[in-house]
Amino acid sequence: MNKGIFITFEGIDGCGKSTQLNLLKEEFDRRGMEYIVVREPGGTVVGEKIRTILLDKNNDSMTRMAELLLFEAARAQITEEVILPALSRGVNVICDRFYDSTSAYQGYANKMGRDLTDFLNLKATNDTSPDITFLLDIDPQTAFKRRSGRDGGEDRIELQGLSYQEKVREGYLELARTEERIAVIDADQPADAIFEQIRNRIWDLTD
Ligand code: TYD
Repeated sequence: MNKGIFITFEGIDGCGKSTQLNLLKEEFDRRGMEYIVVREPGGTVVGEKIRTILLDKNNDSMTRMAELLLFEAARAQITEEVILPALSRGVNVICDRFYDSTSAYQGYANKMGRDLTDFLNLKATNDTSPDITFLLDIDPQTAFKRRSGRDGGEDRIELQGLSYQEKVREGYLELARTEERIAVIDADQPADAIFEQIRNRIWDLTD
């Protein structure tokens, strides 16, 4: 049996990942393809508990190392419990964020360093790499305007402000320069134009 395709979506907060994820789900449904959608941090019982800790605004004393290790703990859980079994059954996996988020947010923007985040990313995932990663690249100001329409206010990470999001964006773009699997997509375009590019890249992969 062929392994499933492992597709991840990345980008700063408010880059439009959810819209693209939904369009991809609809496309997979139309084609009768089997898939699951998961999100990080979260996607498992343990991971959702870790997510609550990570995003809770009251946890303002959390250290950068504690934050990094919690993201990796949630990732270790979802990789072993959900992602790897699905891929080996031939089910495609669409993941809303994966380890590139840690490289960009914790490694680059929080200055924990690529050596450390690369090492932990590898350990947490048993060296499971996405087949393709879509980086939805957008200016933080535009992303912020999009986010302000959402319910629930800002979470602990979003509260770190625009200059933080700018750093995260730089971190992602630097990563994309060395990682061939990362497709950088200009996310300041209409949703259907963005999706067209995503769809083409995925079918190139499956042909
Ligand atoms: P979420 O509400 O899922 O944000 P989004 O809808 O933008 O994906 O919250 C996840 C937050 O956690 C988001 O701000 C990005 C951050 N994050 C990290 O800092 N490191 C990580 O490894 C991951 C997976 C997420």
